[in-house]
Amino acid sequence: MSVMNDEKNLSQLIKEAELNIAAGKQKEAEHQLFQAFGIVHQTRNPTLARKITELLEKIGLFLSPPQSIELSPLATEGFILDIGGGGEGIIGKLHGPQVVAIDTSERELSETRNEALKIVMDGSDLKFLPNSFDVCTAFFSFMYIPKSEHSKVFQEVNKVLKDNGQFLLWDVRIPSLKKQNRQFIVPLTVQLPNETVQTGYGVRWQTQDINHFKELAKEHKFKVVDEWTESETFHLKLVKKH
Ligand SMILES: C[S@@+](CC[C@H](N)C(=O)[O-])C[C@H]1O[C@@H](n2cnc3c(N)ncnc32)[C@H](O)[C@@H]1O
Repeated sequence: MSVMNDEKNLSQLIKEAELNIAAGKQKEAEHQLFQAFGIVHQTRNPTLARKITELLEKIGLFLSPPQSIELSPLATEGFILDIGGGGEGIIGKLHGPQVVAIDTSERELSETRNEALKIVMDGSDLKFLPNSFDVCTAFFSFMYIPKSEHSKVFQEVNKVLKDNGQFLLWDVRIPSLKKQNRQFIVPLTVQLPNETVQTGYGVRWQTQDINHFKELAKEHKFKVVDEWTESETFHLKLVKKH
């Protein structure tokens, strides 16, 4: 489709969303704005992009700046436990049958397309024996897990990891805002060795940043061996101390 056609469709979607907002039809407006967001990057039109963000904010949805991340295969031969491995199932796409993906949502797992072994299980109540895994991962999963459960998940991951096992997490900063928004959405591009995944993760608002996870690491006797922050995205590589 040409850029001009895209711009026409976008303007139409934005107009309809504005009318729906004025009529109090939030759900319809949300749907149109997500559609608009999906095509706005093709037009590279910052005015339209800003307009969409403003309208999303008007209905209580906060859009973080688009994030991108490049992932290479992890250096491990054993099984990888992926916490919250539904959704795009990025770790399962990266490591296929080496991955045991657990998620509380059967629907999320059944919609995930990769070769991981998928099990309905809660990250705060892992059913594996202690010392089972060399590596655990959580790729943009903690943002979906209520903050009150984060500490329990760390405790459980510590239990099922072998000594010197690694806990790798990638997540996004969710800031505290003066105006309370209902939902936080992060558009994300994931570059894998053989494919590029374009997605968006949206959750109910709960603030988090890298320091929150570093404190949990300390509390649960993990050593931080690597960390980085790029834009709003951060990564921690933790090792279970014995
Ligand atoms: C949408 S995914 C996020 C990204 C995902 N890791 C990927 O690769 O695309 C986050 C998942 O965490 C799951 N989740 C939420 N709370 C959980 C918990 N306590 N234990 C395990 N999974 C949980 C949600 O059901 C959701 O499918």
